[in-house]
Parts: sequence; C-alpha cells; structure tokens
Amino acid sequence: MIVAVPKEITPGERRVALVPDAVKALASEAIQIVVEAGAGLEAGFADTAYEAVGAAIESDAAVLYSRADVVLKVQPPCERADGSHEADSIQSGKTLIGFMKPLDLPELAKRLADRQVTTFSIELMPRITRAQSMDALSSMSTIAGYRAVLLGAAALPKIFPMLVTAAGTIQPAKVLIIGAGVAGLQAIATARRLGAVVEAYDTRAAVKEQIESLGARFVELDLDTGDSEDSGGYAKAQTEEFYERQREQLGKRVAASDVVITTALVPGQPAPFLINEAAVEAMRPGSVIVDLAAEKGGNCQLTTPDETTVVHGVTLIGSTNLPSEIPANASQMYAKNLTTFMKHLAPEGELVLDLEDEITSGAMLTHEGKIVNEAVRVRAEGGGN
Ligand code: NAI
Repeated sequence: MIVAVPKEITPGERRVALVPDAVKALASEAIQIVVEAGAGLEAGFADTAYEAVGAAIESDAAVLYSRADVVLKVQPPCERADGSHEADSIQSGKTLIGFMKPLDLPELAKRLADRQVTTFSIELMPRITRAQSMDALSSMSTIAGYRAVLLGAAALPKIFPMLVTAAGTIQPAKVLIIGAGVAGLQAIATARRLGAVVEAYDTRAAVKEQIESLGARFVELDLDTGDSEDSGGYAKAQTEEFYERQREQLGKRVAASDVVITTALVPGQPAPFLINEAAVEAMRPGSVIVDLAAEKGGNCQLTTPDETTVVHGVTLIGSTNLPSEIPANASQMYAKNLTTFMKHLAPEGELVLDLEDEITSGAMLTHEGKIVNEAVRVRAEGGGN
C-alpha cells in the first residue's frame, strides 16, 4: 500500500501531515510512504530527513496522487492556481484522511463521494477515550492555546511577570481565559509560566479544580450552570437569557484584564457570544483580546476572522490557524494522531474498514459514492444551516 503526503497548498498552511519520525513508525514491508518534495520544509523537515527514514520523495504532485492508495493531508483539498482541484487528483476507490471542515464544506464531501473516494474527516473523530490518541482537534487546540498567549503577550504594551527592579516595581499583567477546555487549560498554563496573574471562567463547574491546579483563579459568576455538561463531558448550549447575563457579569472581569483569551465552544454550535462591544470599550487602551473561536463566529462581537484590528484602543486578534504558526510541533502531534489512526485502519498494512467500529465509522465522511455522515449529507442536500 502506498501512503502519499502532498505538500499543503492552502494559503498560510505550514504544517505537513507526516513528519519523519511518523514515517519511521508507519512504514513497513506492506506500507511504502511517498512524500512530495518540499512538503515538510516549512515545518522544518527537509526531504533528506524523510529519505533517511525510508520515504520516497516525489517532485511531481500529479504522479504522487496517481500512485497513492491513501492520501494524508492537513487541510481539505482545494483548488490549485491552475484551476484544477486536489480532490480530483485522488484516484477513484482510494482513501483520503485529513481535516475536511465537513460542516463548512459539504460540497467538497459531495465531490469526494462522487469520485468514489473514501474520506475520513479528522474533525469527526469520536471524542471517546479509545480515540484520544487520534484526536487531532485536541492536539491542535493545545498548540493554539499556547500560541494565543504568546500573541497576546507580544501585542500587549506591558510585560507579563512582576518585576522588582532598581527602576521600580512592575505589576504583573492580568490575563482572563474564557473557556477552560483543551485550548483554555493550555493558555492558562502558558500565561502562568510567563508570570501573569491568571483567572478563568467556564460554564462547566467540573473544571474549577483543574483551573486552580494550574495556579489560576476560578471566576465565580451568579449563573445557574447546574446542567451545563452533557454525558460526554462537553458543554451544552445555554439559553440566550443565560448568555445575556453571562455577558453582563463577565464584562467587569474583561474590563479589568490586560489580555483576554476566549476559547468557549459548544460542539456543533456557532461560538457563544460572550463579549459585547460595551465590554471591549471598557477595557484599558492597549489591552488585547485573542479570540480563538473566530472561525466559528467569535466569542467577541467585534472579532474579524483572520485579521488583527484595533477597536476602542483594544487589539482584537482573530487568527483562525494558530497551529500553522508552530508548524514543527503541530505537525509532529498531528502526524502522531494520523499514524495511530492509520494503524487502527490498517493493523496489518492493508486497509480493513470495519464499519461496525465506532472510530472507523465515526470518522468516516464518504464511502462507496455516498456521504455517510448524516449531518453533512443533510447540508450537502441543501438542508441545515
Ligand atoms: P473544548 O471543547 O475542549 O473547550 C471549550 C470550552 O468552552 C469547554 O470547556 C466548555 O465548557 C467551554 N464553554 C462553552 N460555553 C461556554 C460559556 N458560555 N462560557 C465559558 N465557557 C464555555 O474546545 P477546545 O478544543 O479547547 O477549542 C476551543 C476553541 O478553540 C474552539 O472554538 C476551537 O475551534 C478553537 N480553536 C481555534 C484555533 C485557531 O487557530 N484559532 C485552533 C484550534 C482550536
């Protein structure tokens, strides 16, 4: 079986689907790995590093795709500069694995299904214990949480730690993290390491202990969050009345902060709207909001996706691809997720798709000419929102 790793062509994408260590882990007598020339360069991995662990380097993308049984990608297939489409390069009956943004790009799912490609969308990976080592959303959120703090620190006209110097005492920066899931907890840990005074809020009371164990203060709001967690441990959507009260109460904490990092997410929903314009206006000039939820509409009303803007003197950072800004480690973690998934799908070096298996069927987007994920199928047929 030939596993191919093309160079990512989506603008701004610097990650690569397999790093040399992952090639070493995956390659076997039954699995040959072919990497497009230069695919790992921006993440810090030269072609020679891939060759050293047994991968073949292919400089012609068309040849790479024509040979591939399985294509491993980071970003969903997209259109090339010459108007051709990566999806159309995948041979019929072959397999594609990567982030597919399935609910945002149902037409891509249809295109792949029509081509008889079997597609696994990493976003659809069930968030169950057995699949934790294949959960690339979580590994990328870890990187994003770290990066968000660095961006916030760099944009702030202050330093994070307290300093007692001959030139006087500098007070530590105040950082507020909203949402303490994977990205939020990493953001708390990173901001603490840089010396900021950190507080955090989450609707799931269960995370209070985790927030405190990282040295941050849990913000208590006068809101009834008794039923805020689903059986899988994820946040449930709240009523608009709840969000209205949350915005009002959080506004005071936002105004008192130098940097706010928002990571609130309810799976399958647009980002909850948690910071309104009045709260931004009440912040000190020079303060910073890093809105990790920018791609899903933003937790802050004023965020512009993929842009950094200054509104009421506050810098608003809406980057939607922070993992790509740390491409070496992001690729390393993503590649580990993919190799674990590949070993799950092909334990003996040949793909054996057990459709009864929760991980295989859960992550599957298209198969045998059909979109097999119900929610995506409904969207592709023009339903949903
Ligand atoms: P997660 O599901 O692990 O954590 C989200 C947290 O938000 C949960 O703890 C949940 O309880 C909390 N939450 C939900 N509603 C809330 C509310 N009203 N108030 C306070 N907290 C609330 O998700 P994860 O993996 O940490 O991702 C967080 C966000 O970061 C997502 O929107 C994700 O799409 C985004 N992300 C952005 C990246 C970027 O480059 N901008 C990269 C990776 C992730």
